[in-house]
Formats: sequence, C-alpha cells, structure tokens
Amino acid sequence: MPPTDRAAERSLLGKNDDGRRFLTAAVGELGGHPPVEPPPAAPFLDTREHRRFTEFADAVRQHRYIGLCWGPPGVGKTLSARRYAGLQDWEQWQRDLDAVDIGASPGPVPARVLQARTAVWTPTVTASPREVAQALPRACQHISYAVDYDQYGQVDPFVHNASRASGLTELLIVDEADRLKATGLEQVRDYYDRHHLGVILIGMPGIEKRLARYPQLYSRVGFAHEYRPLSTEELTAVLTRRWHTDGLSSSTDDFTESVAIATIARITGGNFRLVDRLLSQVARIQQINHLDTITPEVVEAAREALLIGR
Ligand SMILES: Nc1ncnc2c1ncn2[C@@H]1O[C@H](COP(=O)(O)OP(=O)(O)OP(=O)(O)O)[C@@H](O)[C@H]1O
Ligand SMILES: [Mg+2]
Repeated sequence: MPPTDRAAERSLLGKNDDGRRFLTAAVGELGGHPPVEPPPAAPFLDTREHRRFTEFADAVRQHRYIGLCWGPPGVGKTLSARRYAGLQDWEQWQRDLDAVDIGASPGPVPARVLQARTAVWTPTVTASPREVAQALPRACQHISYAVDYDQYGQVDPFVHNASRASGLTELLIVDEADRLKATGLEQVRDYYDRHHLGVILIGMPGIEKRLARYPQLYSRVGFAHEYRPLSTEELTAVLTRRWHTDGLSSSTDDFTESVAIATIARITGGNFRLVDRLLSQVARIQQINHLDTITPEVVEAAREALLIGR
C-alpha cells in the first residue's frame, strides 16, 4: 500500500533512507493491534449462553464483585466478552483515532463502550509481574479516558479527576486468566481492592478449583458462571441457518439435509469453533468434488480432515 500524506508526515525515515535496516535489525512488532480488522467467520449470534453471560457480567458490574467464568475451548467465551464490552467498535475507533490528524475529530466514542464501561485485558502467555502491573491500570484507564473524552471533548485527568484512578471503569474482564501465575492473581486482587470496579476472570474448566487454593481471592468471588456449549436445539438452528447463508446446499432434499445437519451436530457437540472448522472443510470437499448437495458421507470425509472431533 503506498504511504498516505499523513503516514509520510510521521515517517521515521530520513532523506534518501529506504528503511533497509529494518530488514535485518531486531526491532520487534510495532503497535498493539493489527491495522485492519480480520473478517468474522460468521455473524454474531445472540445465543442463550451469550445472554446468560451478559446477565452474569451485568451482575458483577453492578455489585462490584469478582466473577469467575469458565468453559471448554471454542464455545464462545472470548467472543461474548468482546461483544459485552463493545470491543470491536472500540478497536475500530482506536484505529480511526490513529488515522485522523491532530485537531480533527475521530468521531464519537462508540455507544456500547460508554454504556458498558468495561475494559478487556488478555495477559500474554509469559506475563511477568511488571507487565501485569502496567497493563491492568492501562486497560482500565483507557476506558475512563474515553468516558471523559465523550463528556468534555478532551482528556485531562488532573482537571476531570474521576478518570485519574480508573474511576470511570466499572468492569474489568481478564480473558485467558489461566495464564496468570500466583503473583499475577494476587496483583489482580490487589487492583480490585484498591479500586471500585468489578472483575471477571475467564478461563478453562478447572480454574475454579485452582483459585480455591488462594483463599483471599476466592473469598471475594461473588459470582461463578459456567459457559456451556450450544444446546442441541440451538446448534440445529445455527446449522440450518449457516446451511443457507453459506450456500452449502442447493438441493431441496430435506431428508439428506437433516441427516447431514444431525451428523454435524453429533460431531461438534455444540462447540462453535468446531462448527466453523467443519463447515469450511465441508465447503472445500464440496467444491473439489463439484457436489451440490451435502450428504452425511461428505460430513464424515470433512471430519477426517480435522484433528479434533474424531
Ligand atoms: N455467539 C456467537 N456467534 C457466532 N459465532 C460464534 C459465537 N460464539 C463463538 N463463535 C465462533 O466460535 C469461535 C470461538 O469462539 P471463542 O474464541 O469466543 O471461544 P472461547 O470459548 O474463547 O475459546 P478458548 O477457550 O479457546 O479461548 C469464534 O471464532 C466464532 O467463530
Ligand atoms: Mg477465548
């Protein structure tokens, strides 16, 4: 992509400098989030589990407790948390903010971000105590600043001091909380104690047992929530919809279609990620073999190509 005028203004390169040194130097990755949004695999569906998660998060936020949420991989925990906090709009807004000139308006702060006042933080795999100590307040403060920005058209934490100590953030969601070691968990508890906000820890099944080993943190857990896979009825509804939106089958043979859908439901066991993976394999096999219907045999062949769900 050719550089825009704006990008050229911010360039680090000197005159007659083509930046060749970056090809060999170890400078690491620049910037936090990718510059373009990856396309979603499928539109978000308001499932029963997502509605349960929303109620749970509302309760934790309102009562300023620590909430614990766990569930198997791929059922939609991260997506629900992102949806709750309005993270997709927030990331887009930050990209816009990055792109507009100083003095020009980046547009209003996304409504859902202001409504939810929720920060989402995902520790890195090797999160050190120092990283945790910096990342926690940073994540919360961004949201508080955004509220200030919306209210006053500027961010000045020493004038509008509610945002100075994360005061306007109501909920902090820590995704992949299993990555936190004992010190990290203790840091989260300490942060929670010093601020008036709710905290949700999201992890894999078993995190609830692990946390029981930290009595002080555990005693602050006010809500526990198990995120379950899709129910059979919802899974069938999801598959029936995807069947038509993805153009998987042009045949009107209801019998073959229902058997194939039932086979996918059995293989995936209500796991959203597995549904996505399996359907893309099905589409691939269908395309290679020039098929216009999907039989249970096609589904079985697609399963063979996957590692999981065997
Ligand atoms: N409500 C939903 N509507 C549509 N697709 C969904 C929904 N929830 C989950 N998915 C699909 O399932 C995939 C996995 O979801 P997600 O990453 O949230 O799972 P997870 O529970 O956080 O898994 P992990 O424990 O591995 O982090 C998503 O990429 C998305 O394609
Ligand atoms: Mg996740």
